[in-house]
Amino acid sequence: MIRKPIFAANWKMNKGPSETEDFAKSLLSKVQNRTFPCDIVIAPPFVSLTKAAEILGNVSSITLAAQNCSQFDSGAYTGEISAMMLKEFFIHYVIIGHSERRSIFGETDEVINAKIRKAREVNLKPIFCIGETLEEREGGRLEKVLRTQVSEGLKGLSERDLLDTVIAYEPVWAIGTGVTATAEQAQDTHAFVRSLVAEQFGADSAAKIRIQYGGSVKPGNAAELMACPDIDGALIGGASLEPQSFLDIIEKGAP
Ligand code: PGA
Repeated sequence: MIRKPIFAANWKMNKGPSETEDFAKSLLSKVQNRTFPCDIVIAPPFVSLTKAAEILGNVSSITLAAQNCSQFDSGAYTGEISAMMLKEFFIHYVIIGHSERRSIFGETDEVINAKIRKAREVNLKPIFCIGETLEEREGGRLEKVLRTQVSEGLKGLSERDLLDTVIAYEPVWAIGTGVTATAEQAQDTHAFVRSLVAEQFGADSAAKIRIQYGGSVKPGNAAELMACPDIDGALIGGASLEPQSFLDIIEKGAP
């Protein structure tokens, strides 16, 4: 297998430390002494990372992610958390450029690129999110939108930094809506995104980079989506909030 699939739970603004403790203990009891043919990542809110690390920190199959980081190093940026600070939390990954960050918090491709570079400076692995709105897809602008997001977001990365980045393709119209892209739509778009990476970084890197699908992934659709050749795992929101449902997705979707 050239690319190891990666299943990541994006909890968004859900679960403080006490709910995180319940989830982590329950997940621990289900995964202890098991090995998985994939990477498993959990992204709790910042304030719950310590609790998650306390309980899951020694489970080799699970790593933790933050949901965002600052594009700055330190200083007068009230409310922000730097990539360097996240390194102290046993964190390996950081979600960057989620569509909610883009649409609600106004993050531009330029800011997202700066955040990806900051994450790489301290060796955090970005989960770099891209995706089109329904209006963009129906208006025939899918390829243009993704081309801009990929080329601007990954601008200036070395090959090593690129390969430590995971791309998460998440059609905005499928996020939290219960509407999933069909396996065919998802595969076609993933293949297109991989071709964009090939244009920018060469065919070899494009063949190696992992591209997750996200948007209403559930136990019931995971197997079909994950069977697509260019889909290398999932970024899961709503269905990752219950340990069993998250695990069901992994079990159905992992090779
Ligand atoms: P969803 O969210 O699985 O609830 O659609 C996915 C995401 O936003 O990462």
